[in-house]
Amino acid sequence: MIPKIPFIIYGADYNPEQWPETLWPEDMRLMRDCGVNLVHVGIFAWSKLNPKPGVYDFNWLDRILDLLAENGIYAGLATATASPPAWLARLHPDSLPVDAAGTRLSHGSRQHYTPNSNAYWTHASALVEQLAIRYAQHPALAEWHVNNEYGCHVQLSFGEEDALAWRQWLIERYSDLDTLNEAWGTSFWSQVYHQWEEIGTPCKMPYQPNPAMALDYKRFFSDAFRELFRREKAILRRLTPEVPVTTNFMGLFPTIDQFSWADDLDFAALDSYPDPKDATNPFGLPISHDLTRGIKQAPFVLMEQVTSQVNWRPTNHLKAPGQMRLWSLQSVARGGDGIMFFQWRKSRYGAEKYHGAMVPHTPPEQSREYEESRRLGHDLQRLAPVRGSQVQAETAILYDWSNRWLLEAESAPRRFDYEGIVGEFHTALLRGGITADISPAERDLSAYRLVIAPLAYIVSEKAADNLRRFVANGGTLIMSFFSGVVDDRGHIALGGYPGKLRDLFGLWVEEWEPLEEGNPVELSMGDAVTTGSIFSERIHLEGAEVVADYASGRFAGEPAICRNRHGKGEAFYISTLPASDFLAPWMASVATQSGVARPIGQPPAGLEVVERVKGSERFLFLLNHNPHPIECQAKEINGLDLLTGASVGPTATLAPYGAMVIQQ
Ligand code: GAL
Repeated sequence: MIPKIPFIIYGADYNPEQWPETLWPEDMRLMRDCGVNLVHVGIFAWSKLNPKPGVYDFNWLDRILDLLAENGIYAGLATATASPPAWLARLHPDSLPVDAAGTRLSHGSRQHYTPNSNAYWTHASALVEQLAIRYAQHPALAEWHVNNEYGCHVQLSFGEEDALAWRQWLIERYSDLDTLNEAWGTSFWSQVYHQWEEIGTPCKMPYQPNPAMALDYKRFFSDAFRELFRREKAILRRLTPEVPVTTNFMGLFPTIDQFSWADDLDFAALDSYPDPKDATNPFGLPISHDLTRGIKQAPFVLMEQVTSQVNWRPTNHLKAPGQMRLWSLQSVARGGDGIMFFQWRKSRYGAEKYHGAMVPHTPPEQSREYEESRRLGHDLQRLAPVRGSQVQAETAILYDWSNRWLLEAESAPRRFDYEGIVGEFHTALLRGGITADISPAERDLSAYRLVIAPLAYIVSEKAADNLRRFVANGGTLIMSFFSGVVDDRGHIALGGYPGKLRDLFGLWVEEWEPLEEGNPVELSMGDAVTTGSIFSERIHLEGAEVVADYASGRFAGEPAICRNRHGKGEAFYISTLPASDFLAPWMASVATQSGVARPIGQPPAGLEVVERVKGSERFLFLLNHNPHPIECQAKEINGLDLLTGASVGPTATLAPYGAMVIQQ
């Protein structure tokens, strides 16, 4: 991933410009003590590097990069373009983003630019060029960190330059107005456009904007951020052809269609901040790791996490002792070949001075935060053999940003929490000891035995063909309620849902009844009884067999879950969300019947099991998310625990928040 670092990457964002230089040697000593091998430097340093238009000061950056090189620590050099200096806002107020109500946002925080600003790009590109020329040959330079968390605070902007770029994007997408009018369904509410100039942005309006327009605006912004990245990368490639280039994404965060960046990133990177007090998700946020791995179907870097406590929730809880290590190892298990923090040294001023860091305000060597960071660095050194191995997954969960954006824009039969519902299926698999990739629906699925399509509201022509082919060739598909309802323009599939996939599921859906929270319906499957929540649907069978019926509610006595054979495979349709205690074992049994291997069979509650494989080498990760010890037994547990060097198996005893990485 980063050729200069043939180990598991370990480090943090490093902001030495916030500290006296006299402290830098101490930073180096502590970094070496922790086993840090990479730091990201200069992420928010534009105003220091480029104090006036055309004037640059690289002296301090020269000195810190030299010091890093002397200490054998590499730099992921930031291009510093995430937060422009005050002079840019003053000289070019039009570079500032504009919110939906027309208010221009000010300088004084961060990320105050619109990606569609020409002035922003002129000055950002000049800085990137200067940085690349100056440091191309520097021995510390190992990687480029472009911008930072695109679209984190400014997800959309509605200014003049945005409108111009938007129209250009629409011209490229639709070529002519007839096609656009058809795609957006503009004969509804007198929205027909006769000139491109008539098209504004979906800013504040009397009532709902056209949902297809709102969807396209989010696609346009995701593309606008990607275009900025591409342009920075082109400069860096030209001047430093050997140095990998990436940027950090935020897992399920809504702004960017990350799959569409796959070919642009040299490797993918994730910032992950699960809430240690989220009782609904004791496993942390494993789905975000699977999603980031899914961007390039390859190992990635966990580029930011916190040592213990963030500062931006209403209440910011500490991670329990051992939990940071566990969640870091979870990332390695799921393809993280690098573990990094925001940030190295906890700030003494500014908006994030209460945000955790590897070096706290208090004496580091007497603090839990530092000690845990140091121990983790040493653990990761022991995991060097894991680097480059591939996560084993025979199951995929489909995910689609357009789907999310359109659901957010729609006045559908109910509001859906797309992430929450995808998460229910992911957690159900996790509880059954099954690892899933997160994949777009249009990608080749032939490597999988089981594919889950939760709330696949949009099914494009290409996705429909892909899913049909997957099942015909022997795969098993599980699709949930409110799927296949519209195409990728948001046009309804007429004649019965799920439209193009009726034949695949052997049924059609006539109508639906959303379920109020706390008022589920009963489901019966032979002798088993469970409940369904969120949604219920009236299904008409066209060849499918019934797996479970509604036992109460509007559709009592009618099919709730169905199965249809198609070609060599089968397709399940679930018209409601079964309770998690039912969903997990049911999906595990469908997975087993589909030939999905489970590394140790059914794991005990709270144990996460993931396998990584490199040639004939196999690494079995056992991660105990319980605050109490657990024991598990399986003949597959057999080998050397890389973390301790001890032989284990067939019984493994894991401490509270304990982990094993068994090499086989
Ligand atoms: C990230 C950001 C970092 C820091 C961190 C705090 O979103 O990239 O710069 O602000 O959050 O959790």
